[in-house]
Amino acid sequence: MGIKAVVAGASGGIGQPLSLLMKTSPLISELALYDVVNTPGVAADLSHISSPAKITGYLPKDDGAKLAFKDADIIVIPAGIPRKPGMTRDDLFNINAGIVKGLIEVIADVAPKAYILIISNPVNSTVPIAAEVLKAKNVFDPKRLFGVTTLDVVRAETFVAEITGEKNPQKLTIPVIGGHSGETIVPLFSQAKPSVSIPDNKLAALVKRVQFGGDEVVAAKDGAGSATLSMAYAGFRFAEAVLKGLSGEKGIVTPSFVYVPGLPGGEEIAKETGCDFFSVPVELGTTGVEKVQNPLTNLNDNEKTLLKACVEGLKGNISKGVTFAHNPP
Ligand code: NAI
Repeated sequence: MGIKAVVAGASGGIGQPLSLLMKTSPLISELALYDVVNTPGVAADLSHISSPAKITGYLPKDDGAKLAFKDADIIVIPAGIPRKPGMTRDDLFNINAGIVKGLIEVIADVAPKAYILIISNPVNSTVPIAAEVLKAKNVFDPKRLFGVTTLDVVRAETFVAEITGEKNPQKLTIPVIGGHSGETIVPLFSQAKPSVSIPDNKLAALVKRVQFGGDEVVAAKDGAGSATLSMAYAGFRFAEAVLKGLSGEKGIVTPSFVYVPGLPGGEEIAKETGCDFFSVPVELGTTGVEKVQNPLTNLNDNEKTLLKACVEGLKGNISKGVTFAHNPP
């Protein structure tokens, strides 16, 4: 099966290394790059790499967005502005909400069956916006819409390995659930596989580091943006998981921020949290999310406290997105 993939925001700090990784994937036969600037150059550069994917680059002129997205199978969206020191992800809302809404409107028209992976922050709000736009156009399929929270999982693997001494952090599977900002991020170390033992005096700092790890990068970049390279890795890892599922590979499970009440196994989660969108481990298959797993049934006391704080913040982020989709400024 030939797969057409698109990166929207392809010229940016995340977009360029993400496009590079996508270009190297044998699972992709066509890769369209879309951005408001510089895609001809990025596409020309990547086109010299001798991997199978055929590269094209589009700008907004001459219906570029429509041409880029047309009949795409998978679309990854890192379009938008990143954080500067002192900003929260929610501060990005006003600009990025409009960008995501505009892109999803085009996608709904020309690629209604695409698997859509949203990286643009605040993910807690941009994914609900996307869902509302798709619903309004009667093409919403919860199995195909994903908020990319993989960087939180990647950070959890890395930071836990630093404590436990695990030499290959990728051997760890650590569910990170909830949302994708600050206290809405809930790492579940008690459900790590293989199991890990975190000393009591290190737990609070570890949780905080997973929740606010992005701030370390924002501060170190000192005004030049937020995580781009680690995000490109995480975005590609998640895109590859979706593609592997589509190709029939079994047993692919990874967390993503999805519309839980519309997915098998998700109703309980929506009921228990009061949140329609929640990051949970999703089982990926030939039609996208086949089932969501419910990690809430065996939380320890510390994780229950984290979940409470998560839900309080997340509800507001979700309703802000839904409200924006219906009443844009
Ligand atoms: P960047 O500013 O380097 O790149 C963004 C790109 O989007 C630029 O090339 C810009 O021209 C493009 N763009 C703007 N409006 C567009 C439109 N309407 N259509 C297509 N492209 C458009 O920013 P960076 O560092 O790549 O971050 C991108 C987004 O990803 C930010 O919102 C950031 O907060 C988010 N992010 C998400 C993470 C996650 O874990 N989900 C982690 C890190 C960043």
